Amino acid sequence: MTTQPKEQQPPARFWSVDDVDAMDFDPVMEELLHEDSMTRIKLPHGEGDAWVAAKYEDVRFVTTDPRFSREALVGRDVTRLAPHFIPLDDAVGFTDPPEHTRLRKTVAKMFTARRVEQLRPRAQQIADRMLDGMEQAGPPTDVMEHLNTPFSLAGISELMGVPEEDWPKIAHWARRVISASHGRAVSERAKEEIGAYFDALATARTDDPRDDVVSAMAAAELDGELTRKELVAMAVLMEISGTNSVRFNSSNMVYLLLTHPEHLARLRAEPEVLPQAVEELLRYVPHRNAVGMARVATEDVPYGGITIRRGDTVYVSYVAASRDPERFEDPHRIDFDRTGNAHLAFGNGPHYCVGPWLARMECQVMIGSLIDRFPRLRLAVPPEQIAWRRGELIRGPEALPVTW
Ligand code: HEM
Repeated sequence: MTTQPKEQQPPARFWSVDDVDAMDFDPVMEELLHEDSMTRIKLPHGEGDAWVAAKYEDVRFVTTDPRFSREALVGRDVTRLAPHFIPLDDAVGFTDPPEHTRLRKTVAKMFTARRVEQLRPRAQQIADRMLDGMEQAGPPTDVMEHLNTPFSLAGISELMGVPEEDWPKIAHWARRVISASHGRAVSERAKEEIGAYFDALATARTDDPRDDVVSAMAAAELDGELTRKELVAMAVLMEISGTNSVRFNSSNMVYLLLTHPEHLARLRAEPEVLPQAVEELLRYVPHRNAVGMARVATEDVPYGGITIRRGDTVYVSYVAASRDPERFEDPHRIDFDRTGNAHLAFGNGPHYCVGPWLARMECQVMIGSLIDRFPRLRLAVPPEQIAWRRGELIRGPEALPVTW
């Protein structure tokens, strides 16, 4: 494969990805947003270096141009944040259209805005039950332990068709798979175990279908639309994303509201603002550290004064792009009245998140119910005493002690 002679490429900056506390914006992302063009980075694991797109328009370009491939990433030890790759090899994340379109089609109908809306009353019931538990536990207590963690797990697990008695196992595996801190072997083993679990569940649902995602995928497998390995990889990715992304994102939202009393007061006074508040918080929350899965250029791509060479690794930062001052006025300010809030928190292009409507609905139900139930909710410790996750992929608090 041709690669650009080193001397013609801008030097790569080593991104050590130091932990950033609270909801502070990573200073490296801030720098990347002010570069003239896309630049090159080197991350703590893997080989070589990579281009990174941080600005909104650059991210949109890379994520929609078919010359940047996910399939070409398979088997390559590219520079990256985690010691291992998160998805299983056959997962949607590693495919390009038309394979990718075929896989996504098998679950798309289970995650539409309409279908998710039908789940809202059940989600409300679950949240109410969990808040009863929190009230009984009494203040001070950890809201993540009582609400964000179990609710996120319950939401995706019910939809997938995972029986309640298996939720603790799933939570354990999910945590290990996304963790950068337990090491590669632990994550790989958790990935195998959760994969075997969904393989067995798919077999059970083939024989006895129900109204859940695994049954829908098992039916698609019978129709020859996807293989068992693809089914398992997709199920694992959905379960893990559904559990962890919503868990931490919603915890970050609660933290932001409790540390921005003016926004919290507004939500209490005008509950109808909740959907747009959640949307703005999705834009604002720096969901992850550094960057996620790369793409690989399948041919030379001249772009804005640089040439990305065939074989080059390319990353995008959805977190940075959602704070791009060229796209969002006063991007570091939380503004529930922001108009045209086309943030990229759920990604862009073919790999756009499978569960944005589920995530939105769950965040709305959690936050709405929480502030409704506890009119005097506040942090039980000074904000500086909140412990933040260290050395992880997804950002968030370890615990969120509250009182009321
Ligand atoms: C607030 C919560 C969430 C956030 C911030 C989030 C964010 C994202 C982002 C940025 C991507 C695109 C990554 C890329 O370019 O490859 C993505 C993909 C994905 N998300 Fe989410 N997500 C959330 C919740 C969920 C939920 C609830 C599900 C459950 C189904 C889910 C399932 C997935 C899957 C399966 C993909 C891979 C899609 C593909 O490669 O085609 N996510 N998510």
